[in-house]
Amino acid sequence: MSVPAGPVRVPHILILGGTTEARRLAADLTDRLPGTRVTTSLAGRVAAPRLPAGEVRIGGFGGPDGLAHWLREHAVDALIDATHPFAGTISFNAAQAAATAHVPLLALRRPGWVPGPDDTWHPVASLTEAAEAVRGLGHRVFLTTGRMGLATFAHLTDQWFLVRSVDAPEPPFPPRMQVLLARGPFSLEDERALLRDHRIDVLVTKDSGGAATAPKLEAAREAGVPVVVVRRPPVPPGVPVAETPDQAVAWLLAL
Ligand SMILES: NC(=O)c1ccc[n+]([C@@H]2O[C@H](COP(=O)([O-])OP(=O)(O)OC[C@H]3O[C@@H](n4cnc5c(N)ncnc54)[C@H](OP(=O)(O)O)[C@@H]3O)[C@@H](O)[C@H]2O)c1
Repeated sequence: MSVPAGPVRVPHILILGGTTEARRLAADLTDRLPGTRVTTSLAGRVAAPRLPAGEVRIGGFGGPDGLAHWLREHAVDALIDATHPFAGTISFNAAQAAATAHVPLLALRRPGWVPGPDDTWHPVASLTEAAEAVRGLGHRVFLTTGRMGLATFAHLTDQWFLVRSVDAPEPPFPPRMQVLLARGPFSLEDERALLRDHRIDVLVTKDSGGAATAPKLEAAREAGVPVVVVRRPPVPPGVPVAETPDQAVAWLLAL
């Protein structure tokens, strides 16, 4: 007697996205693991996001409980937190939700930048400390920390800011500022010109890592411009970390 075959369950991977690595991972997984359902979740901060391969959902989950509910409801087999190294809340939510829903979790984090001997870096722990640091370093500030943290610099009235962001910032922001709407990658040649043309005397950046926005650091080194570097928040304790999409695929295959 033959036993009727039941429906075959397709493995489901959820990627928390919003980064180049998350898009690369979604592309790799849809190529290399056909027959696997790959969903990327975006926060919905950017008006016209670059969409990854596979399925996409947009918007918050409603905290760790909401994410745990989503993981169960959509039968997720593995969760990859490929969010930006500075998106601290969602990473902690992911750790909590994965534990609650018993779903294996991996953090995909590109390595941070490392200063060379000719760099003048001022590492700080937060945007608040960065705002303190620029006061002593110069008047013309190139601010590349994103539009969401601009309020932290809004009280600085002596400085002039060149603010680069993907979408237009909303107040509160510094009173003396010019906005440059742009999305990386940026070339070394353009970064050199930008520092020169705007007579920048201090650069502020998060330690985002990656190649797409690194040329500003090289341009600053060449021009002798000091760089205020905001250190990364930690990855939640106990969460394994991959540095590349390839390592993340290897982790999935080993599950
Ligand atoms: N922070 C940066 O410098 C930066 C830079 C480039 C790109 N990004 C990307 O922009 C997104 C938001 O960054 P953030 O710093 O505002 O994050 P965050 O402070 O860690 O998260 C705030 C809230 O946004 C929602 N959220 C964040 N990422 C999400 C995702 N991938 N899918 C669904 N909901 C998400 C969650 O809402 P609920 O609690 O309602 O689930 C979370 O609690 C992230 O996905 C990140 O990868 C951030």
